[in-house]
Amino acid sequence: MSASLENRGQFGSKLGFILSAAGSAVGLGNIWKFPGKAYNNGGGSFLVIYILMVALIGTTVMLAEFTLGRKTQKNAVGALRELNAKYSWVGGLGILTGFIILCYYCQVGGWTIKYIIAYLTESSTVYADPTGYFLNMLGVNGFPLQGAIIYPLIFLCLTSFIISRGVAEGIEKLSKFLMPLLFILLLGLMIRACTLPGAGEGVAYMFHFDPSTITRDSFLVALGQAFFSLSLGMGVMITYASYLSKDDNLITNTGVVCVLDTCVALFAGFMIIPAVFATGIDPGMGGGFAFATLAGVFKSIPGGTIFGLLFYALLFFAAITSSISILEGTVAFLVEEKGMERKKTVVLVSIVLFVIGIFYTLSQAYLPIKGIWWSVNGIEFPIFGDFMEYLTDRLLLPFGAFFTTVFVGWIWGTDNAIKEATSDGKYKFGLAPLWAFLVKFAAPAGILCIIVAGLLLGMSIS
Ligand code: TRP
Repeated sequence: MSASLENRGQFGSKLGFILSAAGSAVGLGNIWKFPGKAYNNGGGSFLVIYILMVALIGTTVMLAEFTLGRKTQKNAVGALRELNAKYSWVGGLGILTGFIILCYYCQVGGWTIKYIIAYLTESSTVYADPTGYFLNMLGVNGFPLQGAIIYPLIFLCLTSFIISRGVAEGIEKLSKFLMPLLFILLLGLMIRACTLPGAGEGVAYMFHFDPSTITRDSFLVALGQAFFSLSLGMGVMITYASYLSKDDNLITNTGVVCVLDTCVALFAGFMIIPAVFATGIDPGMGGGFAFATLAGVFKSIPGGTIFGLLFYALLFFAAITSSISILEGTVAFLVEEKGMERKKTVVLVSIVLFVIGIFYTLSQAYLPIKGIWWSVNGIEFPIFGDFMEYLTDRLLLPFGAFFTTVFVGWIWGTDNAIKEATSDGKYKFGLAPLWAFLVKFAAPAGILCIIVAGLLLGMSIS
């Protein structure tokens, strides 16, 4: 076995890959980001747009990334370089995106640890004032040492530790039984939340389709959310698929991962939004639904504190399987392209992203740090934390996905890609002509229109 292969590790089984790819996809995006976006963008109307985005664009881009990765057996940058050296910068863009995501992902990942401890040691304090507890962690009452430094640091150290040990060992073991467990727990909690007194209004809101609530911005938000949630647009799935063998069916893998990820997002939405209506706990900042609002649900269940504990423990695992996938993308690039040593790279990257990440949490309530953003209203100054998310979700991920489809559709070519997708004809792919059309025309055109409409023609900064 060559040194580089040893460095990269490989997936031991088919199920291992599905679970790891789903492990990357299912994360804070589904449970912490998605419900808030659905709530702010018209509930049912947003669900419809979101599902369309996943079905038409998300699946298309995912299969494109899978074929690139398995064909070349390389990280995102190496994969593009091998097929056409002029385009390796697209992979580089992805590495930058992943780096920015990870800055804030580790912060929110740290919050999940904080909440595990909270439910272990002081659940009655959380129940007494869920919003206050959450905002206190963000720093409304003084420097958020725990929320911005201690717990995010623990989260990051765990991520780095797993990564420095290599992919197969680290990722596969974690995903195998925790992801199914999370799935079941979410289902149970969703049923509980929907049956709380007063939850009916929230359920109705999630089923209510009102075209007048759809704006150009909703499309961009849904698109960015779909890419974020499916781990697309920065080459993570390229890197993951690079560990696969020709025996694996990329087409069914795409379907399974997209469906699982979307189910988890919908479960989370139907758990949290009805709970907002039933409990009236709306923290209004920092994506607090998954933290503050759920306290109202756990409080209502006999023995709910145990469910709360289990929920944050599983959310933590979902988050860490995602964060290792992002860090793996960055590290695989530096190790394979720049010849850096794996462990050193992990430490170096982690330190830089940790320092930047601190300002994500600080900007929520403790320090008035702003970013800068553009809309038709002119220049705006969202808080720094939101700015980081705008940068990745509204700009970098959509652009990354756009270039991926252009690369596969026009540079590498859909014939080559379909050959790879079917393992040289071994697997059936009835929708191949449709996919080719989507990769070449519909997806890139759609993504570009949505970016332009959402960014240049006007968006509301909420
Ligand atoms: N999909 C993950 C989530 O929903 C986050 C994530 C992991 C990600 N890898 C990614 C997002 C790559 C964008 C690109 O939480």
